[in-house]
Amino acid sequence: MSKHPDRIAPHGGQLVNRIATAEQRSLFLEKADFLPRVSLDERATSDLVMIAIGAFSPLIGFMEQADYDSVVDTMRLANGLPWSIPITLSVEESVAASLKEDSLVRLDGPNGDFIGVLELTQKYRYDKQREAVNVYRTDEDKHPGVKVVYDQGDINLAGPVWLLQRDRHPQFPDYQIDPAQSRALFQAKGWKTVVGFQTRNPIHRAHEYIIKCALEIVDGLFLHPLVGVTKSDDIPADVRMRCYEIMIHNYFPQNRVILAINPAAMRYAGPREAIFHAMVRKNYGCTHFIVGRDHAGVGDYYGTYDAQHIFDEFEPSELGIVPLKFEHAFYCEITETMATSKTSPSRPDQRIHLSGTKVRELLRQGQMPPPQFSRPLVAAELIKAMQTVCTLTTE
Ligand code: ADX
Repeated sequence: MSKHPDRIAPHGGQLVNRIATAEQRSLFLEKADFLPRVSLDERATSDLVMIAIGAFSPLIGFMEQADYDSVVDTMRLANGLPWSIPITLSVEESVAASLKEDSLVRLDGPNGDFIGVLELTQKYRYDKQREAVNVYRTDEDKHPGVKVVYDQGDINLAGPVWLLQRDRHPQFPDYQIDPAQSRALFQAKGWKTVVGFQTRNPIHRAHEYIIKCALEIVDGLFLHPLVGVTKSDDIPADVRMRCYEIMIHNYFPQNRVILAINPAAMRYAGPREAIFHAMVRKNYGCTHFIVGRDHAGVGDYYGTYDAQHIFDEFEPSELGIVPLKFEHAFYCEITETMATSKTSPSRPDQRIHLSGTKVRELLRQGQMPPPQFSRPLVAAELIKAMQTVCTLTTE
């Protein structure tokens, strides 16, 4: 037994590692020019990386049909393990036709670099509308996650993958902490319980409030903003990262927080994505995971607490990570604190909370959102970033 046994097992029991060994890598490089090629977009590239570093354990590749059907219909892999989002590599029919099953395929990244290898075990056609309705709960192509499904190819390529090498993240090298490392880090810090926080928005007071409520009951916080593909009107990852840095340096106890990037793409699948986000954080070694209001939601597609209710569809032991569910948080003018309806006597008109759209509008006009909504240091950073974007786009 190791001196520091893992506090929490990865999903499925083993942390997957599909980063090619030096030997595999040189073999793949030798074959590279002779292998058929498939180009991955940014999202498929991040899926490849997530699989390779073990963040999607127990997946070792893109899903075969049995897993795909089972995930879409029952939120479980074919072996019964909970898994709520299909992880697939879709290509056009003409591309699929040129590839033979039971052979190796070279995977090229968005800029044409050789980044990985797929052992193609299966090609299959799938029903996009069924995926949309089951996974996203809508077949409207206005939904950004559904649109991706509709726009992608008709055939899924499946099989185990290898990532050729693990490069440092070009934008956030210092915050790249893969699951094996985060697990080691939590142990080194002596954290027995760690709460994971998924976010894709600039940090505001409600985020801070629910994080800090969680920090009252666990040993450490794994602040894990998603930096993969998001929809075009979300705030860019580098701006968000600067806001988290400001928050940590000024308003958090330094020794209780680890800031790290989640390189995954956003799906906006609300409830199903909340389960998925929790499984991923379990793989990073978190014991707890925050699920607030409309987690991973977009527009009005999901009920405010659907992403919390969905956890009741599983046995806690099969998920293996504890969801910490928080109601809608706001600034309460009566008690002059952040609160939720569980703790505040206020009427709705005595609560300060702004929608994302309202905040973006204020920032674009160079106006500070109220300090009860956003820490002024963070708001100032956001305004600065908005103005840079505006200058760039008008040049
Ligand atoms: S998300 O798409 O990653 O869920 P966001 O970054 O806004 O978007 O949210 C991060 C986490 O904070 C999610 O769990 C979300 O439910 C929660 N959250 C965001 N705003 C609030 C709020 N006002 N009250 C309670 N929880 C919130």
